[in-house]
Amino acid sequence: MRPLHLHRILLKSGFLLCVACSTPSSAQTERQNIPAQAQTIDQKTFNVLQNVPPPSEYGGFLAWIPFGPPNATLESLVARPFHIYSKEFEDIIGSNPTLTLLNHTNGDPLFHEAPVWNPSTDEMFFCQNSGATAAGTGIQKSAIIQKIKLSTITSNITSQRNASGSVQIELVTGDDGAKVMNPNGGTNYKNKLLFLGQGKGENVPPAIYLMDPKPPYDTKVVLNNFFGRQFNSLNDVSINPRNGDIYFTDPTYGFVQDFRPAPGFPKQVWRFSEATGAVTVVADGFSMPNGIQFSPSGSHLYVTDSGMAQGFRGMEYSNPSTIYRYDVSKDGTLSNRQTFAFVTPGVPDGINVDTKGNVYVGCADGVQVYNPSGKLIGKIFLGKGVANFQFAGKGRMVLLAETELYFVGGLKAEGAFPGKLY
Ligand SMILES: *[C@@H]1O[C@H](CO)[C@@H](O)[C@H](O)[C@H]1NC(C)=O
Ligand SMILES: *[C@@H]1O[C@H](CO)[C@@H](O)[C@H](O)[C@H]1NC(C)=O
Ligand SMILES: *[C@@H]1O[C@H](CO)[C@@H](O)[C@H](O)[C@H]1NC(C)=O
Ligand SMILES: *[C@@H]1O[C@H](CO)[C@@H](O)[C@H](O)[C@H]1NC(C)=O
Repeated sequence: MRPLHLHRILLKSGFLLCVACSTPSSAQTERQNIPAQAQTIDQKTFNVLQNVPPPSEYGGFLAWIPFGPPNATLESLVARPFHIYSKEFEDIIGSNPTLTLLNHTNGDPLFHEAPVWNPSTDEMFFCQNSGATAAGTGIQKSAIIQKIKLSTITSNITSQRNASGSVQIELVTGDDGAKVMNPNGGTNYKNKLLFLGQGKGENVPPAIYLMDPKPPYDTKVVLNNFFGRQFNSLNDVSINPRNGDIYFTDPTYGFVQDFRPAPGFPKQVWRFSEATGAVTVVADGFSMPNGIQFSPSGSHLYVTDSGMAQGFRGMEYSNPSTIYRYDVSKDGTLSNRQTFAFVTPGVPDGINVDTKGNVYVGCADGVQVYNPSGKLIGKIFLGKGVANFQFAGKGRMVLLAETELYFVGGLKAEGAFPGKLY
């Protein structure tokens, strides 16, 4: 999740960089043979800055504002949105990556989280923000789930940067929460779609749901308690490719966004075996465990901690904005928690991996890409936040930027779990 009031402040406070200067810096000089929509960024050009502003200059929100090298402008960074920080990124974007706006709203955060690609119908499912004031969701009504058909995204569409309105968006679940109450996380599971609901108020507990991907989207609850106790507000989920168990995060965003009661559990990562019914805790010690993703072989687990963002309670800058990595044993237990990367701007949210083990994370400037050693190698730069995103097999991705829905095409990279059906 990402609390929406932050976006407003981010836009109000403007861009960090000097928008008056438009001379391309050496960092942005185009290298030979890089794609038309890409630019290289040399971190050495900003290791030393003439002016390093205090957070107070931006009302304390400096940590949320996109950053770029000296003399870059927000416009120049958005104009060629594939930012190459390391040559390795060229292998990911290939020779002609594309970024296209598919739809936008006048403030309703319809494009938030739970992106799930269903390969048999080539559809991408996703949900509205639960708890955001602009959505009116959370305590009054549930966020909705919608979908788009990726096969309708023609090359005519991907050749445009702004093709807003060219793709039909279909309603999957309504706002009564009967199918999934305040959804936030999702993944493929056993030929179906698995969604996490954050619950609503005191009386609708958070739950894990299994949904048929075809209308009328028959749905059943498969877990809604731990020995009779409600979870806090289930957030995101990943399936262990080695044992098929469901690993999920349970932060307290429902509470800090005023649609769930005070926490009843620590903020933990849980594991559920549908086969045996066993529910266990596999990790704790988080401020806000959020995105979760196994590595391609299942030997590692990544968990994002977005504790810097405390929902309606504001920001706590000394909390993590961090991706952690665990070793995963054959028996499915976790060990050796490592600090994989600290992310700026904003907080790391949804997380995915490609077949080569590179790590992609949504944050306040778009999608950032880290190599398996935790080095930033590139960005898909929107200049605004992406809460979550998903690969749709080879070369394609859908980005959920709250009020904007984007399609990325032509990548060389491929998602590690292309709609894998466990
Ligand atoms: C930024 O632009 C100014 C004025 O054009 C120039 O003097 C300076 O060298 C540039 N800085 C970089 C890092 O390119
Ligand atoms: C491609 O888009 C243009 C408008 O931008 C439209 O006139 C044309 O019919 C489209 N072609 C196809 C094959 O959809
Ligand atoms: C995209 O185009 C629509 C008009 O079709 C416009 O209203 C919208 O602001 C544009 N969005 C961006 C990000 O350029
Ligand atoms: C977004 O999609 C909806 C549903 O398909 C459509 O009604 C609306 O016109 C689209 N809006 C824009 C700005 O593209």
